[in-house]
Amino acid sequence: MFAEEKHFVFDGCDTVELADTFGTPLYVVSETAIRERCCEIKRDFLDKYPGTRAVYASKAFLTLTMARIIASEGLGLDVVSGGEIYTAYKAGFPMEKTIFHGNNKTQEELVLAMQTGVGRIVVDSESELELVEKTARTIDVRPALLFRIAPGVDAETHQYIATGHSTSKFGFSLNDSSLEQLVRRVMDSDHMVLKGFHFHVGSQLQSNRSHLLAVDVLVHWMGALSRNIGFVTEELNIGGGFGVPQQPDEGRKPLAYFTDSIMTRIREESEKEGISLPSVLIEPGRWVVSEAGITLYRVGSIKEIPGAMTYVGIDGGMTDNPRPELYGAQYWGVLANKMGEPAVKQVTVVGKCCESGDVLMRDVMVPDSIRRGDVLAVFNTGAYTFSMASNYNRLPRPAVVLVHEGEAHAIVKRQSYDDLLRGEEIPEHLRS
Ligand SMILES: Cc1ncc(COP(=O)(O)O)c(C=O)c1O
Repeated sequence: MFAEEKHFVFDGCDTVELADTFGTPLYVVSETAIRERCCEIKRDFLDKYPGTRAVYASKAFLTLTMARIIASEGLGLDVVSGGEIYTAYKAGFPMEKTIFHGNNKTQEELVLAMQTGVGRIVVDSESELELVEKTARTIDVRPALLFRIAPGVDAETHQYIATGHSTSKFGFSLNDSSLEQLVRRVMDSDHMVLKGFHFHVGSQLQSNRSHLLAVDVLVHWMGALSRNIGFVTEELNIGGGFGVPQQPDEGRKPLAYFTDSIMTRIREESEKEGISLPSVLIEPGRWVVSEAGITLYRVGSIKEIPGAMTYVGIDGGMTDNPRPELYGAQYWGVLANKMGEPAVKQVTVVGKCCESGDVLMRDVMVPDSIRRGDVLAVFNTGAYTFSMASNYNRLPRPAVVLVHEGEAHAIVKRQSYDDLLRGEEIPEHLRS
């Protein structure tokens, strides 16, 4: 129908063929792009700064296959729930390279973490510390911990993805006068080892300002801890949050833009405080996988409202990508089957859910010939889409296809209607 060169090609695969073969909506993830990011992490961070480590924040996108790609690149994994721990474990991920986060870990999750040999547990509050100690004593293990600290820094991002302010639900506030005692308590414990501290100031950051402020606060406090109680901070985990473009002309920030200045600041501040340089760890999620993913949709109804706007309805929406509704994420895309045509018509792309707010892209330009059946490819959807998907309106979740230099493999099956019913039961009295 269309010459192949007029189709959008992603990691060597014709996306129109992918849509025809695997159906839509379809998450398409480029193995090449993920590996390129991992290489950048190794070249510009791990090799450049000896003693550093990097873990991928799996909440951005996790499947068994993704865990295996990350393992093969030698990076660690940040996990935040029993489900993420279980996925890593079942993928054969080296569990000593995992870091367990979360503001309310259950005892069941802590047991799973300790039994599977999770490398670090990041303690989020005093009550959690008690639970960690009790659990470790019960199953007779001695887990290595970090304390998560809310450094009291306001990140320049949407408030729903800012996490470093002093009133954040995540982490210990440094205003908490009992914190020093809690450090001492772990130092004295036979069932826990404190390795250091963690902060994550927020996500989708376009500048390194809030990381630098957080480093100042943390390293200063680490100096005070060393002087006051002799605690030596071996590890400082500076979280993730490194941003990605939201517009085609925004340009991508290399990892070094963030990490070079952070590493310089950690060294300078540690020298000032007279403490030895801690081992620094980063936890990027979005930066690794966002641009490695696209979503393919089939165009359905096109509704012109004369003098006002044109709606283009797609066969997915907030169920496969809730980020525009959650915190105003912006996307751009192309008609994958009409690459040769100029984008001259302004439209608003809406999902099929029964919510007026189900708007994927506002005021985007598409070819004038847009019509039912066209394939829309939306860029930069690799992070926090599949992992945040829902079955609202009983829409089955899309399949995930991994592409790599012209080859495509389905790594997650599309849900069927029967999948939607799995686990449901009708009580006896309603059966007849
Ligand atoms: C503790 C922690 N580390 C890392 C990340 C990854 O953030 P990003 O995907 O923005 O890099 C998050 C995101 O919420 C987080 O909470």
